[in-house]
Amino acid sequence: MVNQAEPQDSSMRSLQRVLASLNAYRWLSLGALLSLLLLTIANAVTPQLFRWGIDQGIAKQDLDIVLYSAGAMVIAAIARGLFNFGQSFWAEAASQGVAYDLRNRIFSKIQNLSFSYHDQAQTSQLLTRVTSDIEQIRTFVGTNLIQVISAIVTLISIAIVLLIMNWQLALITLTVIPMNGWLLARFFTQNGELFRRVQEQLSDLNAVLQENLIGIRVVKAFVRESAEARRYTAMNDTLVAANMKTIRAIRSTFPFIFLLSNLVTLAVFGYGGSEVIGNRFSVGELVAFNSYLLLILQPVLLIGFAAPAIAQAAASAERVYEVVDAEIEIRDRSNAVPFQACVGRITFENVSFRYPGAQTETISGVSFETKPRELIAVLGMTASGKSSIMNLIPRFYDVTAGAVRIDGRDVRDFTLASLRSRIGIVFQETTLFSGTLRENIAYAKPNATLDQVIEAAKAAQMHDFIIGLPEGYETLVGERGVGLSGGQKQRIAIARTLLTDYSILILDDSTSAVDAQTAVQIQAALDGLMHQKACTTFVVAQRISTVQNADRILLVDKGRLVAQGTHEELMRSSPLYGAILESQVKQSK
Ligand SMILES: Nc1ncnc2c1ncn2[C@@H]1O[C@H](COP(=O)(O)OP(=O)(O)O)[C@@H](O)[C@H]1O
Ligand SMILES: [Mg+2]
Repeated sequence: MVNQAEPQDSSMRSLQRVLASLNAYRWLSLGALLSLLLLTIANAVTPQLFRWGIDQGIAKQDLDIVLYSAGAMVIAAIARGLFNFGQSFWAEAASQGVAYDLRNRIFSKIQNLSFSYHDQAQTSQLLTRVTSDIEQIRTFVGTNLIQVISAIVTLISIAIVLLIMNWQLALITLTVIPMNGWLLARFFTQNGELFRRVQEQLSDLNAVLQENLIGIRVVKAFVRESAEARRYTAMNDTLVAANMKTIRAIRSTFPFIFLLSNLVTLAVFGYGGSEVIGNRFSVGELVAFNSYLLLILQPVLLIGFAAPAIAQAAASAERVYEVVDAEIEIRDRSNAVPFQACVGRITFENVSFRYPGAQTETISGVSFETKPRELIAVLGMTASGKSSIMNLIPRFYDVTAGAVRIDGRDVRDFTLASLRSRIGIVFQETTLFSGTLRENIAYAKPNATLDQVIEAAKAAQMHDFIIGLPEGYETLVGERGVGLSGGQKQRIAIARTLLTDYSILILDDSTSAVDAQTAVQIQAALDGLMHQKACTTFVVAQRISTVQNADRILLVDKGRLVAQGTHEELMRSSPLYGAILESQVKQSK
């Protein structure tokens, strides 16, 4: 941040975009604006009715006029109530629409953003943006915006009325506006940074809360409850301190504003009184003038109170649009074609890959080619780059150099949706959604029949466990559902993938939490399935026992492909393979 004005500028631009999004709700907005104008007129008319009642009625002892003016005042009061309702109701309705659109936009954007974005984005920050930032924007559209517009309209129209009534008195009165305006402006330039900080600290506090909710088991296992509580309390203290600072700033500015306003009332009473005595101004006019005075002081304060909320809304809008505008790094090429049948020739051509923002290459110069219907095992130590290599096939990331081809065609030439829907991938870390077991297995194919679901569960060695549950496939998982072990979750994830229309199957360390015997059973079931559907299968593993029967083993070390061949070939030729094998045989003894 070299330039102080820069962040301000871009948050104001974001606010303008919020205003532009009101275009979709232009009838509601127009309704609110029209009500606002009518409300201002009803407000401006009321003091004139007073004046009429006093000067023509009371002063001239004409009871009829007193009663007429009283009746007219009642009607004006009713009209004010109606227009006030219309104004706030339609503004709120428009604000709900704007928030609804923004929520949907940011959600679908989050769905479409590439892996690399989510690698860097903090979940808690994204959550704050979808919830409290959008709420801040909604309050701005629904309340502050209409307040400010109404304040400006009132200010201008009443100023004109006052000038027409008595320009000298009006000029005395109106001096209060620039003075109060100056006080407010000074207040906000001095405290703008403070408001921004409060917002940031709230978001930091939420981040700690969220980390602790997700990691509560780790916290407890390491007996860090009190340390975490201290950390949270410390941040909570900072937030309260910052909030108190803003309150102190508000409390020390506003008394001056009220004082100024009272002084003006005094001036109007004094000067106006002398004008009345000198017969240049009627009593009714003085009363009306004084009522206008109250009407004109309100808008300045309203703008004053709305300003911090508007500044916050602008900052929120900036953060929301930051996500909405985030670049989707991995997208379809303009001439992308759908991925259809697959013969099974997957080629890595001198592939190198560096994670966005990383200094060094994670994958360097990897080349290999699969033959149709091969079962390829990818073996290597942790962090050797196995997952990174696999992630390049469905284009979770794009290569930095070289190319990944399927049947000779660069994966970047396919449409993403078709490519990914034909690649079945099981991640090491599984995520189940809240719902039934059946819904979870049929996640990618919601219209699958129960028989198909059962077939997939059988292959994943999960069927026997599921039918043992009282509610079988209708058992709920997730927050309020049955607890599953890590290995059971992995097997549900395998079943979920097996049910899709995959042509290429990637099992990325997906039996790491399953015992060795079940892993071998799953592998055997897969061997059968594979030849029905998959043109190529990749099994990433750390255990040699699960990959022994692979057609070929790719041995990865430090991001390079160091050897490939069958189990027997590698045993003979690769010292690294021998070393891994030896260490695993030792372990199992
Ligand atoms: N999302 C990521 N962003 C940056 N670096 C990553 C990311 N994922 C993995 N890495 C790095 O890439 C290297 C290889 O990781 P990975 O492919 O997951 O290894 P493996 O699957 O063999 O355990 C590691 O050094 C890891 O730190
Ligand atoms: Mg991995």
